[in-house]
Amino acid sequence: ARVSLWGGRFDGGPADALAELSRSTHFDWRLAAYDIAGSRAHSRVLHAAGLLDETELEGMLAALDRLEADVRSGAFAPQPGDEDVHTALERGLIERAGDRLGGKLRAGRSRNDQIATLTRMYLRDAARHLTGRVLDVVDALLEQAAAHPGAVMPGRTHLQHAQPVLLAHHLMAHAWPLLRDVQRWRDWDARAAVSPYGSGALAGSSLGLDPDAVAADLGFATAAENSIDGTAARDVVAEFAFVCAMAGVDLSRLSEDVILWATKEFGFVRLDDAFSTGSSIMPQKKNPDVAELARGKAGRLVGDLTGLLATLKGLPLAYNRDLQEDKEPVFDAVDTLDVLLPAVSGMVATLSFDTTRMAELAPQGFSLATDVAEWLVRQGVPFRVAHEVAGACVRRCEEQGKELWDLTDGELAEISEHLTPAVREVLTVEGSVASRDGRGGTAPARVAEQLERARALARDL
Ligand code: ARG
Repeated sequence: ARVSLWGGRFDGGPADALAELSRSTHFDWRLAAYDIAGSRAHSRVLHAAGLLDETELEGMLAALDRLEADVRSGAFAPQPGDEDVHTALERGLIERAGDRLGGKLRAGRSRNDQIATLTRMYLRDAARHLTGRVLDVVDALLEQAAAHPGAVMPGRTHLQHAQPVLLAHHLMAHAWPLLRDVQRWRDWDARAAVSPYGSGALAGSSLGLDPDAVAADLGFATAAENSIDGTAARDVVAEFAFVCAMAGVDLSRLSEDVILWATKEFGFVRLDDAFSTGSSIMPQKKNPDVAELARGKAGRLVGDLTGLLATLKGLPLAYNRDLQEDKEPVFDAVDTLDVLLPAVSGMVATLSFDTTRMAELAPQGFSLATDVAEWLVRQGVPFRVAHEVAGACVRRCEEQGKELWDLTDGELAEISEHLTPAVREVLTVEGSVASRDGRGGTAPARVAEQLERARALARDL
């Protein structure tokens, strides 16, 4: 028989179709441990307010302990008649504590403030877990950077050769956004550390319960300032989903580089056998499936965020049942990142780079033309003129099918009087990268400092 929370004014139970639609235990059961923690804290404030005597409090906490053990062992599980995690656990509590005591716990709380609180507790733990996994990807990137201190590669804009850069510089350009994602979760936690417990259905409680005591008991910094906001707000959930989506997008951009680098045409990396797949028909194939799944799952994470925002848009205050739809998107985001992150960190850690090929390609496509222009500027030539002169060098080389360093002293002088043979000092990849020595530049000394700062940040986060 269906146990209903609202028997009083109803003649019968809900229609089967409504019960089917309404039921959420298949996804909110993962909140069971948080629900029980909330119930313990709630028992204590009921006791503090004189609504449970000492014996009742002890009986309640003992019953909650038994319930928790049974949930953990699987001896207690939701039944088809249980609408949600709260309903199921109230049934479990009453089965263990009896009707009289078990029925007292619901005083002064509502599923509306409960669910808002439990979701925050779950997401705060998830954020702590996911930041650890993101930092594993960062570590893998930083280790690869450290392992290739001098390796150069073609830096690109518009996917065209632009200027040579250090491989370590490029790898760390993927590490910094991931470090910011970790910082985003940390910043987010300050807003998530506010407990809605005590907001009741929407208006707060008349029973003299102390929301701050519950908040402290459950590891929150403080209780909600506004009970309507406490029960109706989901911006904290959406912001969490945004950080997941952003991390997904950052992993996807890294993965797209890996996919390109692993092509025959690039030939920059070899994927480890353990992190690539073969083909059932083409024996020669080695596919970058981890990177492709990362790219694909980024779309799914973006969908989780946009679906949630669409659910929230236009909802009047305070609680509406639509809000039950907030959980599956964020649970999916957590689960998706949880399987994705270890695979990406494994893939990155085991990449082997063909640094010879990267070095060969680094100066091609006239990627040192900017160096010529900037060298001229250092000789006192206005940049507008320097840009023209360097462009003329490129045109001359294109006509003759050769590279910048193939221009003879005579040809250089013919193009411009300013182009003395000394310009050759920047016509090497090493000279080019070494010259970009301002903070944040790709000069080896700067990149080494950058690596130290990235490591220090990763360690402190
Ligand atoms: N299961 C609901 C949710 O996830 C919480 C229950 C509130 N339901 C209600 N009818 N007031 O949002």
